[in-house]
Amino acid sequence: MKSKQPPAPLIISISSGKGGVGKTSFSVNFAAALAKLNKRVLLIDGDLGLANVDVLLGLNVRRNLQATVEEGCDPTELLLEVEPGFMVLPASSGIPEMANLSSEEQAYLTDALEPVITRFDLVLVDTAAGLGEAVLWFNDWAMENIVILSPDPTSMTDAYALIKVLHTRYDKKRFHLLVNSSRSDKEATEVFSTMRTVLERFLKISPHHLGVIPQDEVVSKAVRRQKPFLLTNPNSRAGKAVHEIAERIIGSYFSDICKVN
Ligand SMILES: Nc1ncnc2c1ncn2[C@@H]1O[C@H](COP(=O)(O)OP(=O)(O)O)[C@@H](O)[C@H]1O
Ligand SMILES: [Mg+2]
Repeated sequence: MKSKQPPAPLIISISSGKGGVGKTSFSVNFAAALAKLNKRVLLIDGDLGLANVDVLLGLNVRRNLQATVEEGCDPTELLLEVEPGFMVLPASSGIPEMANLSSEEQAYLTDALEPVITRFDLVLVDTAAGLGEAVLWFNDWAMENIVILSPDPTSMTDAYALIKVLHTRYDKKRFHLLVNSSRSDKEATEVFSTMRTVLERFLKISPHHLGVIPQDEVVSKAVRRQKPFLLTNPNSRAGKAVHEIAERIIGSYFSDICKVN
């Protein structure tokens, strides 16, 4: 079969506006799911000042992206392998300067990342909470933008604020909404349709419904164990939901899909 590859790699940002909505949990498990489906995945910790991808994966980080920004270290030297096909580019924690890079430093970092990302099929960026420059810049850099919502009303107002800025400032029009921590299908449908109504009315944007991850105790257990639930509990409700989203993304962007059951 003729393969239709996108101009590799596909860069996807994962944001939410509000903190604690599940960005990092989703990012590490989504990356693990994509790698299980035979894709080469790079997960960049885009929370440059309060990194925690490494914490959720129990990684031992010696040097991180701070070494690239401050010392010109090649990001290839910072890569850590989690599973075959799943690599992480870690960031620093407790370094406020890293969360407030100048536009020159941002441009330098993007240039430094370009040669590294070409080895991967997908690059995921787990971004920080809020509307800081790095959040906006990583979302602009990404080709596809996932925005996570939770049933909490403040998560919806913060996600709306983020989408509004990305639309008005960067002309972004395509957003993939993911409802996390929902207690029922009905609740998830309501969260998505409320958001869609607001986006259509005020910004004239029709969002894509990427999927739903139910509230599931395997997620918080996985955080404490520092192991992705996708690997330890693949048949949990959250595990199956993330796996389905990964299959759908691959089905949409890569036609050489290798079905894994
Ligand atoms: N689907 C879910 N079910 C249950 N708990 C969840 C779920 N998603 C996230 N959580 C909990 O929310 C907390 C915050 O998640 P995290 O991924 O760190 O959020 P963020 O990166 O958006 O700040 C985690 O410690 C986890 O226990
Ligand atoms: Mg996080």
